[in-house]
Amino acid sequence: VEVDASWRNARKIPETLFGVFFEEINHAGAGGLWAELVSNRGFEAGGPHTPSNIDPWGIIGAKSCINVMTEQASYFKRNNVALRMEVLCDRPAVGIFNPGFWGMNIEEGKMYKLVMYIRSKDSVQLTAKLTCSETSGQLQSLASASTQDIVMSNWTKVELQLLAHGTCRTSRLELKTSKKGVIWLDQVSLMPSDTYKGHGFRKELMHMILELKPRFLRFPGGCFVEGNRLRNAFKWKETVGPWEERPGHYGDVWNYWTDDGLGYYELLQANFEDLGADPVWVVNAGISHTDYTNNTSITPFVKDAIDSLEFAKGSPKSTWGSIRAAMGHPDPFPVKFIAIGNENCRLKQIYQGHYMLFYKAIRGAYPDIQFISNCDGLNGQLDHPADFYDVHIYGNATELFVKKDMFYTASRTGPKAFVSEYAARNGKSATLFASLAEAAFLITLERNSDVVQMASYAPLFVNDNDRNWLPDAIVFNSWQQYGTPSYWVQTFFSESSGSVLHPITIRSSYSGSLASSAITWRDTEKSFLRVKVVNFGPHVVNLTVAVNGLQAGVNTTKSAVSILSSSNAMNENSFSSPNNVVPVTRALPHAGKEMQVLLAPYSLTSFD
Ligand code: AHR
Repeated sequence: VEVDASWRNARKIPETLFGVFFEEINHAGAGGLWAELVSNRGFEAGGPHTPSNIDPWGIIGAKSCINVMTEQASYFKRNNVALRMEVLCDRPAVGIFNPGFWGMNIEEGKMYKLVMYIRSKDSVQLTAKLTCSETSGQLQSLASASTQDIVMSNWTKVELQLLAHGTCRTSRLELKTSKKGVIWLDQVSLMPSDTYKGHGFRKELMHMILELKPRFLRFPGGCFVEGNRLRNAFKWKETVGPWEERPGHYGDVWNYWTDDGLGYYELLQANFEDLGADPVWVVNAGISHTDYTNNTSITPFVKDAIDSLEFAKGSPKSTWGSIRAAMGHPDPFPVKFIAIGNENCRLKQIYQGHYMLFYKAIRGAYPDIQFISNCDGLNGQLDHPADFYDVHIYGNATELFVKKDMFYTASRTGPKAFVSEYAARNGKSATLFASLAEAAFLITLERNSDVVQMASYAPLFVNDNDRNWLPDAIVFNSWQQYGTPSYWVQTFFSESSGSVLHPITIRSSYSGSLASSAITWRDTEKSFLRVKVVNFGPHVVNLTVAVNGLQAGVNTTKSAVSILSSSNAMNENSFSSPNNVVPVTRALPHAGKEMQVLLAPYSLTSFD
């Protein structure tokens, strides 16, 4: 391996090269990154026509003592459904429960904030409990608090703090009373008090994203943005403002309800304040999987996009900027990237017509915004203006290893490539083997980062209880999480964005199954040269790494080697063995301008 570490032939890698793609898929947000524990908190999931299904809520008590139904009786206009509970006996206590998303994770010593809206005809006292079912069938109480015993003839917001004195991963929230009367309930939320920066995100999941140092976050889909039908597509205006007023919606592509607590605002905040990333905002282009609007009815979609930018970037006095300010963020979120649609160029004519209407309107109002088109700029020039064209690459590991080279022949003029979705998919398993093809792919993206300027793996998350799209980078349940080998591969690239790429050549009889890159990085804390090599073959490879032109100041005394490998390339991680395939780092005391190295079969090795 020969590395030319001089500045002569070096090239800067774009600051934005590696980011993440967050889609509401596999319960990534609802029941995932978003820490809300109640599912269907406003009783809207059964639809606007009442009486409706209250799933996953359940009823506690005999039918002779309690009568529960939904009614259009809410205080909130956009989500009119509320729950009416008629209590017919004084004892035993009856009520309702919510199991959250496959059980709530309640942890000893932690505080949980319960907020609910109540109306009652008579004086009422509700007791809120967090309970855990024991194998005996008994319910153990982990926390409990009661409302005051008063009449709430008008809708009243009630807040209770629940301090857990036990841990249970599959708890539920119970709301019970032992007094006859009629009570209405609406917008019941239970949040742990220790979310990331108090922003509502599950800390451990946020830390896993942070570990990747993403430079951008593309959101909120994917197909989630499109919908199977336009009427079920993501509508950002219904996801901003007070959480109690959000109607929620049924995502008909990935088939689940979201209360939309994790809305447009929260995702902008995640980008700018939590991750230090640039948002890549994907808007619906008036096209879903099965229907689309024609050019004459596209105006509301274009207006939605313009308004979304006013919400993010507009003055706090503007119509939409004032809503952002009222939510606690008078300073704008300086959004730079907008993607018009997702995978919509399959309807080329329609898409291009729509795209141009978005383009003209947005360019006029926000000339600094960069546009991402769904059409393919890789195999020919786009026939509409764009800053980026979006490329989605899925294939089995061997295919991806071959496809990595496609960017060497891409046009060096015109829009840049944004590989907003890539993954090696060999069935449902997230193996080391698949991740190594991804590593080779990412190495090639570094080397082609004059044309590919942004890339993100897809999907980022899967809740183990909704394994809809596999494989994914991060697997979690209500209380655990682990990275798949694909996740760990991405950590090898967390310093790449904004670094400097150096020419590298490999001569080996195994060169057909090797991929390599060299970068240098320099900031106030550290400066290093990193050589990464993927061995996508079954042989041990013996190499001499020779570095020429190394800049003064690059520290070789602290050199280290990190290796991602395993006894079997088909190995994976799991909840029981989360560290089966993870990088192992050790010091490299004999690092120098020339060194002998051995690459393990099926491995990714990085020399710093
Ligand atoms: O990443 C999963 C899905 O794959 C995305 O929603 C879609 O854009 C692609 O087809």
